[in-house]
Amino acid sequence: MAFPKQVSIVEVGPRDGLQNEPTIISSDIKIALIEQLAAAGLKSIEAGSFVNPKWIPQMASTHDVLKGINRQAGVCYSALTPNLQGYQGAIAANADEVAIFAAASESFSQKNINCSIAQSLQRFEDIMAVAKVDNMKVRGYVSCVIACPYEGEIHPQKVAQVAKQLIDMGCYQVSLGDTIGTGTPKTVKAMLEACLSLIPAKQLAVHFHDTYGQAVANIYAALEFGISTIDAAVAGLGGCPYAPGASGNVATEDVVYLLNGLGIEHGVELAKLVEAGNNISRQLGRDNGSKVARALSV
Ligand code: HMG
Ligand code: MG
Repeated sequence: MAFPKQVSIVEVGPRDGLQNEPTIISSDIKIALIEQLAAAGLKSIEAGSFVNPKWIPQMASTHDVLKGINRQAGVCYSALTPNLQGYQGAIAANADEVAIFAAASESFSQKNINCSIAQSLQRFEDIMAVAKVDNMKVRGYVSCVIACPYEGEIHPQKVAQVAKQLIDMGCYQVSLGDTIGTGTPKTVKAMLEACLSLIPAKQLAVHFHDTYGQAVANIYAALEFGISTIDAAVAGLGGCPYAPGASGNVATEDVVYLLNGLGIEHGVELAKLVEAGNNISRQLGRDNGSKVARALSV
C-alpha cells in the first residue's frame, strides 16, 4: 500500500511522557509545555489523565493543567479516563476528548487498571453511554500489542479482538500500544495484519515505546500499511509505571524528521518542537531523548 500523504501526530508527552516522573512537576511547567507543543503546530495533545492519584501521583494536577492552558482553536486537548469517575473529571476540566485504555494481556490489565480485560470493557461501555449523550469523542488504546512485561509474547488475534471491541463500542480510533517497545517490523506487521483484517487503517493509530530503538522502523512499517495516525512524545519522554524498564515513547522530533524525509505532511514545525523538547528536558534536568533534537541543538 502507498504511504499516506498526510499523517496526524498525537502528542502524548504531557501524559505518557510525564506520568512516570517521580518528582512532581508544577502545573505551570506542564501548561507551558502544552502551549509550546500547540505553538509548534501539534493539533492533538494528550494533556493528562484522570486516574487514582495514589497510583499515578504525577497526574493529580490534570484538572488544573487542562483549566490553565491558553487553548488554541483547532487543537484537541485530551485526557485518559479509566472509568466513569475519571470521565466526570475530564468533563469538569473541559477536556475536548477522552481516551479509554484496555490491554491485550490479562496480567497487564490487572496491574494497570486493577481489573480483567472483560471488566475493563464493561467499565468502558459505561463511559461510552455517557459520552454518547455528551457528544464526546472517545479514543481507545490497546496496550501490550506485541508483548507483555508479565506474560511475554501476545498473539496478534488477541490484539485485534480487543481493538475491534473498542471500535464496536464507539471509539472513533484505536491506538495500538507497544508498551514495552520490544516489537520489530516483523512482529508489528503480523499484529497490524490481524487488526487490519477487522478495522480500516484510518481507524488505527500506532503507539511505540522506543525501549529497544525500534520505534522509527516500526512506524515505517505502519506507514507502509497506510496507518496515518502516530503517537509520539516530545523529547522521547516517558515510561509506563506498570511496565518496568520500558522507556519513553518515540520522540516526536524523530517522527517529524522521518515524515519530512518521506515527504509526508504533518503540520509541525520542527524547530519549535525541538525548542519545546529542550525546555522540558532542562526542567527535568536531563538530556533531550530525541536524537534529532540533539543533532539540531549543537
Ligand atoms: P481501583 O482501586 O480498582 O478503583 O482503581 P476503585 O473503583 O476500587 O476505587 C478505589 C479508589 O480509587 C477510591 O478512592 C476511588 O475514589 C479512587 P478512595 O475511596 O480509596 O480514596 N478512584 C479514582 N480516583 C481518581 N480518578 C479516578 C478514580 N477511579 C477510582 N478515575 C483505577 C482503578 C483504574 C482508577 C486505578 O487502577 C488507576 O488509577 N490506575 C492507573 C492506571 C494508569 O494511569 N496507568 C498508566 C496509563 S496507561 C499507559 O500508560 C499505556 C498507554 O500509554 C498505551 C501503551 O503504552 O500501551 C495508554
Ligand atoms: Mg504508552
